[in-house]
Amino acid sequence: MKITNLIEKNQFSLHQEEFALDVLTGLSSHPKSISAKYFYDDIGSELFQKISQHQDYYPTQTEFAIFQKNCAIIPDIINESEIDIIELGAGDGHKSKLIIDGFLDKGCKVNFYPIDISEKAMQLLGENLTVNENLNIHGVVADYFTGLAHLKKISNNKKLVLFLGSNIGNFNKAQSRDFLKKLWFSLNTSDHVLIGYDLKKDTHVLNKAYNDTDGLTEAFNLNLLNRINKEFGGNFDTSKFQHYGFYNPTLEAMESYLISLEDQHIYISALEKNFHFEKFEPMHLECSHKFSPSDIAYLASHTGFFVEQHFSDDKNYFIDALWQVQKESP
Ligand code: AVJ
Repeated sequence: MKITNLIEKNQFSLHQEEFALDVLTGLSSHPKSISAKYFYDDIGSELFQKISQHQDYYPTQTEFAIFQKNCAIIPDIINESEIDIIELGAGDGHKSKLIIDGFLDKGCKVNFYPIDISEKAMQLLGENLTVNENLNIHGVVADYFTGLAHLKKISNNKKLVLFLGSNIGNFNKAQSRDFLKKLWFSLNTSDHVLIGYDLKKDTHVLNKAYNDTDGLTEAFNLNLLNRINKEFGGNFDTSKFQHYGFYNPTLEAMESYLISLEDQHIYISALEKNFHFEKFEPMHLECSHKFSPSDIAYLASHTGFFVEQHFSDDKNYFIDALWQVQKESP
């Protein structure tokens, strides 16, 4: 696999600075919060990988089944002889492989461009996928929109952008509209996107998925405290925080909190500051938004996409939405 790294040398320290500033503002707010986007250091990514294979966490297995069932239909709808498949976030290649093979089986040539900020994630993906004469793989290490802008310049093929696994759920409603508009802007007319949306469902099923019986989700949340300890010299003791994850129906999202089990002060040396936690004070970490089929159709029509097909599973737990970019001529 060829890898292009678009990250400038000083960008790593810029990211660290942004993370430090977010920790400072998040721990100084009421309620306290730290963004879920910081979950994914090497240990966090490994923990998420384990969560996604756990029987209590239905989204990954459900989306996989949707692709198993529909991977031969998607290339028929798109109907191209060569395509650029771009994946936002590298993942482990498991699900993307089904999509890619669907195109290869129809004799369509595929150029696969995973985009990820982490070079390590890219290398891991490379180990799971093998190139052949009809499949080129070219990893792009960059943030999503820098990577997309780069690809717009270097290729004229029709594009299919994959944004899977309900990653879009981490955005709130306004952020997901903004994200989709940016995606629309970075593509050409008639390009396609395939986006995974987790659906609203029985709250027992939701709550179980984010409170797995092996404590993986708990460890995933607590790892953020360990990450702050490691990277910024914090002294969080993870045994003094409790993971609390539940479905909030008016927010239409799973929320996760870490709750301080005692009155305590946390010193973070990179910030040269103590942060006070009252006993039972919550710290908000994640929102994972859930959608109804009509929410998804509404998003498409308000961000410039035509709905080609919505693929779901037998239980209606998840939708993969295949949309086409619609631009207007004068
Ligand atoms: C990777 C954002 C799709 O929201 O379900 C899994 C992250 N959090 N368990 C999700 C997550 C807790 C996951 N996403």
